[in-house]
Amino acid sequence: MTGRVSNGGRLVGKVVIVTGAGAGIGRGVAELCAHEGAAVIVAERSVAGGEATARAIADSGGRGRFVQTDVADEASAANAVAQAVSQFGALTGLVNCAGIYPRATIDETTVELWDQIMAVNLRGPFLMCRAAVPAMRAAGGGSIINVTSTNAYSGWPNLFAYSTSKGGLLVMTRNLSRGLARDRIRANALNPGWVISENEIAVQASDGHDLAWIEEAGKRQPLGRTQTPLDSAYSAVFLLSDESSQVTGTEMNVDAGRSMPGQGGSA
Ligand SMILES: NC(=O)c1ccc[n+]([C@@H]2O[C@H](COP(=O)([O-])OP(=O)(O)OC[C@H]3O[C@@H](n4cnc5c(N)ncnc54)[C@H](O)[C@@H]3O)[C@@H](O)[C@H]2O)c1
Repeated sequence: MTGRVSNGGRLVGKVVIVTGAGAGIGRGVAELCAHEGAAVIVAERSVAGGEATARAIADSGGRGRFVQTDVADEASAANAVAQAVSQFGALTGLVNCAGIYPRATIDETTVELWDQIMAVNLRGPFLMCRAAVPAMRAAGGGSIINVTSTNAYSGWPNLFAYSTSKGGLLVMTRNLSRGLARDRIRANALNPGWVISENEIAVQASDGHDLAWIEEAGKRQPLGRTQTPLDSAYSAVFLLSDESSQVTGTEMNVDAGRSMPGQGGSA
């Protein structure tokens, strides 16, 4: 990953699970966490993606292990946490980044599609958090980051189930922050804005939008560009580090200002 502005070390002593770390934002978060000194569990469903991220971390001198994980599956989620504890001795951080965002309006949303989106985007973070909390209590505290979306505020007609799932995740985050504060477990939401991951490029292409179109659309954002995985990763490192030890229940919008009042939603 190029363009990093820190020399590393902000997460020394931390053990972090990043779900969906085989691509896009999750991969960026996992790589930056390792660069900052964390031991990282790459919890990813795709073997190719998960192995690639773990290899990139190792090639940069970091500590990362790929644990094939389907966050929607109870046993698989529990296994990711068990692997963090058995391989690295503890668990102090969890980034729920795995998510899917197929386009569909309410009329196009079948029950099967609704269930599929909710299973990954909402049940997945629930299962990961439920498994992680006892391990974080044992570590004396921890930090949970739920990767939500500005769609949680605005809704979006052709992301009907997706935006609903992210709204649920936002409320789950508030609930966790209230319920777990006494355990010194913090929970915060991170809204990545509009990140041009490979999957997002494919989704935009299916809507007839090429890279030039995306770049022009980016220029119309308040801060003048679309976002990168590294933009989100910087905020994730802050929220996972002791620098944010008094921060819980917040929503961090890494979105070029699109969620400011009056800016009118997002893709
Ligand atoms: N890209 C954006 O503009 C954007 C904007 C706001 C929010 N987000 C959110 O950020 C997260 C990452 O987005 P992205 O664009 O990097 O996505 P991506 O598709 O590039 O990467 C998602 C990763 O999650 C993995 N995954 C999917 N289902 C899984 C499961 N059940 N268990 C484990 N891993 C699974 C995929 O294999 C993939 O590697 C998602 O939660 C998404 O909703 C993205």
